[in-house]
Amino acid sequence: MSPRHFLTLKDLSSDELKRLLSRASELKKIHHEGTLFEPLKNRVLAMIFEKSSTRTRVSFEAGMAQFGGHALFLSSRDTQLGRGEPVEDSARVISSMVDAVMIRTFDHETVETFAKYSSVPVINALTDDYHPCQLLADMQTYQEHRGDIEGKKVIWVGDGNNMCNSYINAAALLNFQLVVACPKGYEPNAELVAEHQDRVTIVHSAQEAAKNADLIVTDVFASMGQEDEQEQRVKDFEGFQVNAELMALANSDALFMHCLPAHRGEEVSAEVIDHPNAVVWDEAENRLHAQKALLEFLLCN
Ligand code: CP
Ligand code: NVA
Repeated sequence: MSPRHFLTLKDLSSDELKRLLSRASELKKIHHEGTLFEPLKNRVLAMIFEKSSTRTRVSFEAGMAQFGGHALFLSSRDTQLGRGEPVEDSARVISSMVDAVMIRTFDHETVETFAKYSSVPVINALTDDYHPCQLLADMQTYQEHRGDIEGKKVIWVGDGNNMCNSYINAAALLNFQLVVACPKGYEPNAELVAEHQDRVTIVHSAQEAAKNADLIVTDVFASMGQEDEQEQRVKDFEGFQVNAELMALANSDALFMHCLPAHRGEEVSAEVIDHPNAVVWDEAENRLHAQKALLEFLLCN
């Protein structure tokens, strides 16, 4: 039987996602109480990184250690993957030795191919198209601060990137309204938008989108791999900064999230990161708890 993978949020049903989010909060409590809980004793997670990371690496590695298991950091620079060994071959070999594999890479197709040839669960830890692990943490964070997100209005400000595509999937699974405010030419995946047109609206003004918002989210103008476009994007994204004026248009209890790292003064003003309604540090910490819930779901069921 082929293993369960987590390549996009849609690999979970709506009910499974909701259960996983609640479990993440339980695991957070267990961790904060200092209770030893080692459901993955002697299990190994291979972590393949073809792009940089702070939060993803630390949260998966710490999570595996806390669960009594072990995590292996594999950079494409130091493995045969970086020297052209086929993904199919690497998947067969690596998955024969470990219990799960986490991959951060460029093409989404790479994680799909890896998963096809892997005998153990594969987790997408960010591709150019999706960042589902971050959404687990974001949705956990919203729930912990404000309760159920169903029926709420969420505003995505900026690039229609991997995070934005994952927000569309979250809107479909958790039943909230998503308004994407982006410059023309920077819209999210058109097929995904068409598929979920009952949940997603695209506008080209952040001010128009922000009215009555319950949650405002943004991300960098240029993602990893788009460094050459940085200068052009700073010009194209003028008017798409989340700042105190924009926050003031939203509901007074609207939360602010950013997956981090943030570029203060570009997509977000420094004052918003420190705004009383900004929950970016909880959001980052929840990467740990949400991914522990994911590992438990994939490996202990
Ligand atoms: N948010 C996030 O995925 O951060 P890292 O790139 O540091 O892993
Ligand atoms: N959109 C960003 C997210 C970083 C966590 C990127 O892909 O670089």
